[in-house]
This record gives sequence, C-alpha cells and structure tokens, in this order.
Amino acid sequence: MSLVTSKEMFKNAYQNGYAIGAFNVNNMEIIQGIVEAGREEKSPLILQVSAGARKYANPIYLRKLVEAAIEDTGLPIVLHLDHGDDFEICKACIDSGFSSVMIDGSRFSFEENIRVTKEVVEYAHSKGVVVEGELGKLAGVEDAVKVSSKDATYTDPDQAVEFVERTGVDSLAVAIGTSHGAYKFKEKPSLDFERLQIITNKLAGFPLVLHGASTVMPEFVAKCNEFGGKLPGAMGVPEDMLRKAASMGVCKINIDTDLRLAMTATIREFLIKHPEEFDPRKYLAPARTAIKDMVQHKIKNVLGSSNSI
Ligand code: G3H
Ligand code: 13P
Ligand code: ZN
Repeated sequence: MSLVTSKEMFKNAYQNGYAIGAFNVNNMEIIQGIVEAGREEKSPLILQVSAGARKYANPIYLRKLVEAAIEDTGLPIVLHLDHGDDFEICKACIDSGFSSVMIDGSRFSFEENIRVTKEVVEYAHSKGVVVEGELGKLAGVEDAVKVSSKDATYTDPDQAVEFVERTGVDSLAVAIGTSHGAYKFKEKPSLDFERLQIITNKLAGFPLVLHGASTVMPEFVAKCNEFGGKLPGAMGVPEDMLRKAASMGVCKINIDTDLRLAMTATIREFLIKHPEEFDPRKYLAPARTAIKDMVQHKIKNVLGSSNSI
C-alpha cells in the first residue's frame, strides 16, 4: 500500500456523515500514536505537515516516517501539507511525494486567493495530487464576533461556490468561528452552523474542512496545570459540535492542539513524579500512548470513521 489521496475517503465520509481526522505530525512518537489508533479503529487517516513541522524535522524524516507507518499498518494514509503559504511550498511537497496539499490564500483578496489556488490546482492535478483551499479567515480569540465583522471574516456561501468553480479545488476549508490553538472562546463556544448549512446546501456533495477543531480536552489542560503548567482559560470546540459538523458535509477535521496537550500533560506528569529519570524513552512512551488513546477516542466517539476501510 502506498500513500493515497483523500478523494475516496471524502466521498465515503460525505455519504455516511462522518469525518476523517487530519492530525498534525512533528516526530516519530506522534506518528506512531496516531497510526496505532487508526489501526485499532480500522480508520483511514490524514497525517499533515505544517511549514513549521518541515522546518523542525526536515521534511524527508517526516515523509519516511509516514512511509514506515503505511508499511507497518497497511492503512490508507494521506500525507498532506497543512497551510501551504504559496505555490513554491506546495510544489516542493508535491514533487517530494505528498498526496495532498493545502494552499492557504485566505490572507489575500478573493481574486488573488483564486489566482494562487488555481495555479496550485493545475500543478497538483497534473501530478495526481489533491488540493484543499481556504476561504474566509479563522476567528481570532475574541468571542461574540459582531455580525458585520463576522460577515467580513466568515466564509461567504456565494463566494464559496464561485471559489470552488473557478479554482477546481478538491476540498474547501471554511471559517465558521473556530480558531487555532488552545484559546478559542472566552466564554461560551459558538459556531455558525446556519452558515455551514447554507454552504453545504449550495455546494451539495462537496467536501468541507474544519480547521482549529481541537476540543482542548479539559483533562489534559487540568493535568498540565496540576504539574506546573499555566494554561488559564484554555477552551476549544466541544465534541458534540464536531459531531454535528461531521454530519453536515465537513469531511476533514483538523486536530493539532489536542495532540500537543496530550503529549505535554503526560510528560509533565511523568517528570514531576519521576525526578530521577533522564531516559527520554521513559517519558516519550507514555506520551505516545496518551496520543493513541486520545486519537482513538476522537475516531470512535467524535469523528465516526471507525471500521470504514
Ligand atoms: O494550523 C496550525 C497547526 O496547528 C500547525 O502549527 O505551524 O506551529 O506547526 P505549527
Ligand atoms: P487546532 O489548533 O484546533 O488543533 O487546529 C489545528 C489546525 O487547524 C491545523 O491546520
Ligand atoms: Zn489550520
């Protein structure tokens, strides 16, 4: 089995109302934890690499680790570039064997976003690689976004249709109130499901993507704080909202912060409880298990992609 694209995955996910987890990977233990969960749940996976991850790990190491994960598990795995800034980084990933790239032109004007996305789509499709675009800007940490600013930053449903038609993208990341990181909402989590429903209706059958979808799991925040961390006010997207999004045409749900928290909370606890230890394997092994358990929970109880291969 070699890398696959997300085409079939998204088709099945859309038809059956579930989502594929797209997990950010930065090192071996993270990859192993995620794919072990995928193996137990018989779930396809998207492993995504950010520009920061490429810089941290040197892309060849991550690519080879993902190849090893496929050889080891036989799972259908997509290797995806997360938040590609420009044509060059997308091309570099396509040329080095990624099966999917995201071109994030959301900081540009509508026309410039279309131009750069189309350029990436043309190159990617000529090599059999799929492309995710983004329209609208993910919310900042301020909650209760006013209607006028909401209209300026959240995805406009009519523009979404035009964007998909003119660029030829294979999936589209939409902005409906999520944001990256551990501080997504100040008080009550809220997503614009009305807008999502309109986009889904207008783009009937077309796969949507939700970024900034970590739940910021309270047990990991509490554990971080119990063992010397300082994460006051951390808050994410509740799991029932993710389930709802998955039933409404969202086929890819991006998770990074929950992986970071699971890993850091476990390492914090271990090192405080075992101050005499200095063998990295001693704290990385439980961190890897914590990632596996967290991802398995997401696949089984939130995303709904178990037993879909
Ligand atoms: O969307 C952002 C992801 O969480 C990746 O974060 O750029 O720090 O690797 P990063
Ligand atoms: P979180 O920060 O909510 O995990 O979002 C990750 C993401 O969107 C990666 O592209
Ligand atoms: Zn993102």
